Amino acid sequence: MTKRVLITGGAGFIGSNFVHHWCKNHEGRAVVLDILGYAGNKENLAGLEGQDRFRLVKGDICDSQLVAALLAEEEIDTVIHFAAESHVDRSILGPAAFVQTNVVGTFTLLEAFRDRWQTQGKPADYRFLHVSTDEVYGSLEADGPAFTETTPYAPNSPYSASKAGSDHLARAYFHTYGMPTLITNCSNNYGPYQFPEKLIPLMCLNILLGKPLPVYGDGQNVRDWLHVSDHCAAIDGVLHQANPGDVYNIGGNNQVKNIDIVHQLCDLMGELAGDLPQPPRELITFVTDRPGHDRRYAMDIAKIQRELGWSPAYDFATGLRQTVEWYLNHRDWWQPLLSDEYKGYYDRLYGDR
Ligand code: NAD
Ligand code: DAU
Repeated sequence: MTKRVLITGGAGFIGSNFVHHWCKNHEGRAVVLDILGYAGNKENLAGLEGQDRFRLVKGDICDSQLVAALLAEEEIDTVIHFAAESHVDRSILGPAAFVQTNVVGTFTLLEAFRDRWQTQGKPADYRFLHVSTDEVYGSLEADGPAFTETTPYAPNSPYSASKAGSDHLARAYFHTYGMPTLITNCSNNYGPYQFPEKLIPLMCLNILLGKPLPVYGDGQNVRDWLHVSDHCAAIDGVLHQANPGDVYNIGGNNQVKNIDIVHQLCDLMGELAGDLPQPPRELITFVTDRPGHDRRYAMDIAKIQRELGWSPAYDFATGLRQTVEWYLNHRDWWQPLLSDEYKGYYDRLYGDR
């Protein structure tokens, strides 16, 4: 049956990639609810506005009246919940917004969806897919095994603690009310439309602007990188194939040290960007570490590979090159994002380091 989907946070990085993926691969109504805050950008959805099946609503997931009205008016049967405060460094500077959006916002959505699902007679095909992160599992030792779906939660930042709280709520709604929730926990994404506060776009833009490349601590922290289009395909698979209450880890089988990524970006930019203000590697600056900085993340993706037949399709060298090319070819996308808000945040974060 054709679904009528509410995609929260659909104007952000992963959400907008997912909306494009959805509209390309599925029929039915796609409604985006996004507060269009600093990371939410209408431009990410260019080409979709004007299509009958698509609607962008500017609003807050914490607004229970708005959410309930939208679910009813649009006859939503499926929520794919991306909306969140997503940046760890911002959560250290100001955790309150993270508790509000990630915990209270998720609770508000779950409650509104529960009400709709119950008043509609608990239809078996309704779904609430909660998009979460590997960071809820804490930090791995250098050689320890990767996180599985049964690794105990041990969040270390206000961001990951707020995501852990929202995961627990989604889980509880399945166990308590039988509401058909699904949870996905994914590793670090990269690709087009990522806001320039995150490692990969930040390094690309700083190289273009001749600014220092701030590497936290010793640069040996490891992340498991996945192309955003692979993440979108995995979410699609979970939505269509998983059983209510299921949890799936998603990752790239691609553990890379931060300093190695920065070196690769320096070399790619040197090759692709034309004239640069300074040789990129000369800009690398080791700065004071992020407080509570998790040493290593890695996802064991055996369950989703075995049960749903999903695997990452991108290899990292190709994906990183395409991403660098995308940022070089889309200056008109990122230049307006270097706003006063971003500069204020940037100076606050990196000024002391
Ligand atoms: P993002 O910051 O780029 O986008 C978040 C979006 O949510 C923005 O469009 C923002 O405007 C919107 N939003 C924020 N608060 C809102 C509110 N109160 N009401 C409505 N909309 C609101 O983040 P992202 O990187 O695209 O992450 C999307 C989701 O995926 C998040 O839940 C994040 O925890 C999760 N995730 C991200 C990654 C990653 O590597 N980026 C990895 C795993 C999981
Ligand atoms: O693991 C999934 C998570 O990945 C998501 O849940 C988060 O929403 C997403 O922001 C991301 O979190 P990270 O903290 O891993 O991503 P970030 O790009 O901020 O940093 C990646 C690594 O690079 C991390 O070890 C910190 C380091 N870093 C980051 C920045 C911005 C630097 O060394 N210098 C920097 O300037």
